[in-house]
Amino acid sequence: MATLADPAPDFATLPQMAAEVFTAPLARPAHVGEDWLEPKQTDYTAQDHQVWNDLFARQMEVLPGRACSAFMAGLEKLDLGRGGIPEFGALSEELGALTGWSVVPVPMLIPDHVFFWHLANRRFPAGNFIRTRETFDYIEEPDVFHDVFGHVPMLTDPVYADYMQEYGRAGWKAMRYNRLKALGALYWYTVEFGLIEEAGEVRAYGAGILSGPTEARFAVEAQSPNRIMLNVDRVMRTDYVISDLQPTYFVIESFADLYRQTVERDFDRLYRSLPAGFTYANSAVIDVDNVLHRGTQEYHLRGGRGSGAAPV
Ligand SMILES: [Fe+2]
Repeated sequence: MATLADPAPDFATLPQMAAEVFTAPLARPAHVGEDWLEPKQTDYTAQDHQVWNDLFARQMEVLPGRACSAFMAGLEKLDLGRGGIPEFGALSEELGALTGWSVVPVPMLIPDHVFFWHLANRRFPAGNFIRTRETFDYIEEPDVFHDVFGHVPMLTDPVYADYMQEYGRAGWKAMRYNRLKALGALYWYTVEFGLIEEAGEVRAYGAGILSGPTEARFAVEAQSPNRIMLNVDRVMRTDYVISDLQPTYFVIESFADLYRQTVERDFDRLYRSLPAGFTYANSAVIDVDNVLHRGTQEYHLRGGRGSGAAPV
């Protein structure tokens, strides 16, 4: 049996979890193996492809000037606007030639340790299904549009691609220290909702921002949210909102800065110093913060999603 004292695994095969590590009790569908990969990508209907095309067109009206240049360049390099849901095999070949990453289909949310293992091997697990017309504007579980349109273009950037692989390795370590919530906050405030300084402005690189029209405007331009320079130690102690726009966004100087702040640090020491729960509320501004914009929080004070409050 593996224990916490074991050295880090090499990730060639799915490493065995130490018995004392908590893993979420997700029921594995009968048709997938231990790697949780679908045997093949879904056969999409013409309507499915049209949903993708319409989502793509809507984002392209919003993202120029709001998405970071690495994302826009990634869309071009992978030609994601060629029409229809991309075929993962062809997409993986193109992405593989650029940074060695591939895109693999999974049925739904997968267990953390399996997700981290795929990232550590430069495989990005992407939801197989696509939302319907009825759920066009908002979905709870990530679909192929969120995962492929939102995440995959960033994987064409070499430094960001390395960051994602290292995140997978760090995830494995976080589980061994039972500090998954803290590492989840880092993922949330970087990979999903991260902003970057570019040409004297802030632009988005997080997939949760880039795959929806409302948050793309809100994150970059609105007066409500705080925009604070990323401090990894602080972010890993900060709570986050899953089902609404973020009260706070964290901003990086560059992807090299993100890599340096996360990968080139002693995570063993960090995990040992982190409390089990979060210290800071998601709207808090604290004394160590380097604040670019102190938000009014008007949107959330008016009740947020469901209240009819404007995302201003
Ligand atoms: Fe995501």
